[in-house]
Amino acid sequence: MHIAVLGGDGIGPEVTAEAVKALRAVAANGPQFEMTEGKIGDAAYDTTGDPLPEATVVLAERADAVLFGAAGTYESDLRPPEARGGHGLLRLRKRLDLFANFRPVRAIPELAGASTLRREVLEGVDLVVLRELTSDIYFGTPRGFSTAGGERSAFNTMRYTESEIRRVAHAGFKAAQARRGKLCSVDKANVLETMQLWRTVVTEVGREYPDVELTHLYVDAAAMHLIRRPRDFDVIVTGNIFGDILSDAAAMLTGSLGMLPSASLNAEGRGLYEPVHGSAPDIAGRDIANPLASILSAAMMLRLSLGKPEMAMRVETAVRRVLAEGLRTADIMEEGATLVGTQAMGDAVAREIARLP
Ligand code: NAI
Ligand code: MG
Repeated sequence: MHIAVLGGDGIGPEVTAEAVKALRAVAANGPQFEMTEGKIGDAAYDTTGDPLPEATVVLAERADAVLFGAAGTYESDLRPPEARGGHGLLRLRKRLDLFANFRPVRAIPELAGASTLRREVLEGVDLVVLRELTSDIYFGTPRGFSTAGGERSAFNTMRYTESEIRRVAHAGFKAAQARRGKLCSVDKANVLETMQLWRTVVTEVGREYPDVELTHLYVDAAAMHLIRRPRDFDVIVTGNIFGDILSDAAAMLTGSLGMLPSASLNAEGRGLYEPVHGSAPDIAGRDIANPLASILSAAMMLRLSLGKPEMAMRVETAVRRVLAEGLRTADIMEEGATLVGTQAMGDAVAREIARLP
C-alpha cells in the first residue's frame, strides 16, 4: 500500500515525521507501507515556483492515501493565491474533490485538566464536525480587490450549488446513522441566500433519513452551544468557512488544537489525512509541537482508506497509554505531568505500539 507524505510548512514536517514513525511501528510485523514524500506549500513554492507542483498532484492521485502536515506561513498568507503556500492545499483539496472533511472531537479523560473548560462540561463529549471542503466563500467567484469609486474595496462570493450541498448532507446523515442518529446542520439562513439554499437542501435530503433526528442552528448560536453544552452534539454538518471556525473552537473541548485529527474524503472514499491545526510558525523548528493530531490522523487513514481498522485501534490505544503515563507536550502540559518534545512523544507512541499485543 502506497502513502503520499506531504509535510508542508512550519511544524507540518515535524509532526508528520512522528505519524510516519507510528505507521512504521504498527506495520513492523508485516509488509511495510510504501511512503513517498512530496512538496506542497511555501516549501514547494520556494523551490519550484508553485505551492502545488503537478508532480505532487500526480503523487497524491496515484497513492492509496495522503498524509498531510500543514501549508502556509504568516509571511505568505497575504500574497496573491499563486504565491501562497496555503493556497496549494486549497487547490489539492479541490483537485482530489475532497468535499467531506470529518473532524472527530472526543473528550479524552486523561486530558480533562488541560482544557480551559470545566471537567463536568467535557465529560462524555463525542461529536464529529463535518465540514464541506471544496466550495463556499473560499472558492466562489467573483473575488478580488477593486479601486472603483476612488477607494480600495475587496470582495468574495459565498456560493453553493444544490449538488454540493446535497452530497455533503448525505455524508452527514450517513455518519449520524452510524453514530447516535442526530444531525445538526449549521448555517446562517437568516442573513445569507447561500445559507437559505443550504437549509432547504439539507431539509429535503433529511426526508430520506427518517431515522436521523435533524436540527438546525445558526452559526453564531452554534458557537455558543458548542462550548456550553457540547455533549448534546452528535454530528454537525456545515459549510467550509463555518466548519473551519467551529472546529478550532471544538478543539478546545479536547484541550488543544494539537490533539485534533481529520479525514477529508471524496465520493470514491479516497482520502487526505491531516491535523486540524496549521503550520504554527510561532513554535516551528523547536521540537515542541504536539504530534498527536497527526498521529491520530494516520490512525483515521488506516481505518478509512487502508482497510486496517485493527492497526488504527493499536495507534489510538498507544496514544491513550502514553497520555495515561503522564507524557505531555507543552500545549497540554499540566501539573505533575512529564514534559516531552515532539520527537520524544512520537518515540513513546511508537514504543507503546510495539508493546501492544
Ligand atoms: P495554527 O493552527 O497554526 O496555530 C494556532 C495556535 O495553536 C498557535 O499558537 C500554535 O502554536 C498552536 N498550535 C497549533 N498546532 C499545534 C500543535 N500541534 N502543538 C502545539 N501547539 C499548536 O493556526 P494559525 O496561527 O492561525 O496559522 C498559522 C499558519 O498556518 C498560517 O500561515 C495559516 O495560513 C496556516 N494554516 C494552515 C492550515 C493547514 O495547512 N491546514 C490550517 C490553518 C492555518
Ligand atoms: Mg482552520
